[in-house]
Amino acid sequence: MSGQLSPIDTAKFVAAKRAVEFVEDGMKLGLGTGSTAAWMVRCLGERVREEGLKIIGVPTSSRTAELARQQGITITSLDEAKWLDLTIDGADEFDSELNLIKGGGAALLQEKIVATASDQMIVISDVSKRVDTLGAFPLPIEIIPFGWQTTKALVEELLPSMEVLGTTTTLRMNGDAPLMTDEGNHILDLHLRSIGNARQLALVLNQVPGVVENGLFVDICDVVVIGHGDGKVDVHDINEGTHVTDQIEFAESDNIFSDLAD
Ligand code: 5RP
Repeated sequence: MSGQLSPIDTAKFVAAKRAVEFVEDGMKLGLGTGSTAAWMVRCLGERVREEGLKIIGVPTSSRTAELARQQGITITSLDEAKWLDLTIDGADEFDSELNLIKGGGAALLQEKIVATASDQMIVISDVSKRVDTLGAFPLPIEIIPFGWQTTKALVEELLPSMEVLGTTTTLRMNGDAPLMTDEGNHILDLHLRSIGNARQLALVLNQVPGVVENGLFVDICDVVVIGHGDGKVDVHDINEGTHVTDQIEFAESDNIFSDLAD
C-alpha cells in the first residue's frame, strides 16, 4: 500500500490508524478537521463497519461532519453529547510540551471548544509538524467580520510587546473574498516566526474586542501520535512521560483507500 500512498500520506494514515486504537466501545469522540483528521475519520469508519464499534462523534467542522456521515459514523452536536471521552485531531505545529498551533484549516474555534470539552486530546501528525519553538507556521486567530480592520490594527499594536519575532498579519482569503469560517467569522493569520511565550500570547489575544479565539492550544493536548513514511509511529504521552514506537501493518486490500477525495 505504501507504494500507492505518498510518504506523507502514509505518515498521516499510520498516525491515524494508531490513534483510533485508543477508541473504545461506547465512547463519545471529538472528530478533528484537516487532511490528517480525515484519515482518522476513515479509520474510525472502518472499525465501525468491520468490528461493529459503537461510538458517537462530534465533528469540528461541516467538512468532517459530511465525511463522518459518509463513513457511517453516528454524529451529534456537542450540546447533545455534553462531554467527550476523547478528541483526535491534527495540528499545524506542536512543541515538546505538546502545545499546538491549529487553525490551518480554519476550524480552530470548534476544534478548541471540542478538545477542551474532552477528557483527553490526541494529536495525529507527520513529523514535519514537530518544532522546537512554535511560530514558523502563521498563527490563525478567528475574528468577527464587524470592524475586522480595527481588530487587525489592535492585534498588530500589541504584538511588539509579546515575545515574537514577526508582527505582520494577513486576512485569510478564499479567492477574492475573505474566508468565512463555519461560524461566519474571518481568519487573521499572524506571521510571528517565533513565539516565546505561547500561554501569555493566547491570553492577551483573547482580550482584544473582535477576537473570538486564537489557534494556540496550551495544556490541552495529552498525546501526540507521529507517523512516518515507512509505517512507523511514535506515541508520546505527556502525562505519563512515555515514548513508544510501533510499526503499523496495513494491507493493500484495505477498503479504506477506496475514497481518497480529501
Ligand atoms: C484545522 C486544523 C488542522 O488540524 C491542521 O490545519 C492540520 O491539518 P492537516 O492535517 O491537513 O495538515 O487545525 O483547523
